[in-house]
Amino acid sequence: HASDAQRTDLMTITRFVLNEQSKYPESRGDFTILLNNIVLGCKFVCSAVSKAGLAKLIGLAGETNVQGEQQKKLDVLSNEVFVKALISSGRTCILVSEEDEKAIFVEPSKRGRYIVVFDPLDGSSNIDCGVSIGTIFGIYMVKHDQNPTLDDVLQPGRNLVAAGYCMYGSSCTLVLSTGSGVNGFTLDPSLGEFILTHPDIKIPKKGKIYSVNEGNAKNWDEPTTKFVQNCKFPTDGSSPKSLRYIGSMVADVHRTLLYGGIFLYPADKKSPNGKLRVLYEVFPMSYLMEQAGGQAFTGKQRALDLVPEKIHERSPVFLGSYDDIEEIKALYAAAN
Ligand code: AHM
Ligand code: MG
Repeated sequence: HASDAQRTDLMTITRFVLNEQSKYPESRGDFTILLNNIVLGCKFVCSAVSKAGLAKLIGLAGETNVQGEQQKKLDVLSNEVFVKALISSGRTCILVSEEDEKAIFVEPSKRGRYIVVFDPLDGSSNIDCGVSIGTIFGIYMVKHDQNPTLDDVLQPGRNLVAAGYCMYGSSCTLVLSTGSGVNGFTLDPSLGEFILTHPDIKIPKKGKIYSVNEGNAKNWDEPTTKFVQNCKFPTDGSSPKSLRYIGSMVADVHRTLLYGGIFLYPADKKSPNGKLRVLYEVFPMSYLMEQAGGQAFTGKQRALDLVPEKIHERSPVFLGSYDDIEEIKALYAAAN
């Protein structure tokens, strides 16, 4: 038995996904090729983020560097890398990025069956101070491959065929679900490969942490207010929960997935739909939560049952441990 330090049988993300896909006889390797291009984007962003301070990549878009070249802001640069990698994969037909106002329709000669919705670099307010940021993505299959339209993108989250995120933190971690559980991979920088480090992630049934921007409390509705009050002053004899809020969805959700608890970005009087975007923030994270045994709720319904009408639509979201989400669901039910 080789010890961890001498492991010779490396489960890379490509090998893992190839194994998973081999269960489907109709699989042609398209998904693996698509995923490899997403992984390439993640590796590029990881490297750029870690060099950001050095390379002065964090300057404002439109600024020029010492060579007089236009400098691109990290999120703009990341978006370009993902868009180019995804188109060149030959496996995509529509791309929706948080950075692009309109959906990108891939030209027919490069078209494939997959639709990718993504936020190339989420948590941008955290870039300049070196706090963890991440990429979030969701993958759909096109309904009519001859003539893809926006209708193919505006599908409920339950139709996703895969979703994941990559966190650029103290290490670079990619968490992925293709519909049969959730697995985490960590980039080995010396190999340039993501290696399976967190097999079959399950979120604890109940957590001890809540995660929310409490600065918005003045404008919350009654159920959210009550829920957070209960976290701090529980009435059932349990201990109060701890508060953790990074302000980077990927980092806050990653911690929630591993340690349990609840992450919420609720509606408030100023933003009745909350802040987070349905297609490339709420859906992928809700999909991962459900796949890990947790739940995701909008305040009205199961998050993955939402049917977006616009590509950049927002929705309130409560996601995390099964029991914690049951609690917020009960408060909304009682209020209606
Ligand atoms: P961004 O897409 O502009 O980076 O905003 C999304 C981020 C999420 O990562 C995070 O959960 C949320 O905004 C934090 O918002 P707030 O600063 O209002 O708490
Ligand atoms: Mg974002």
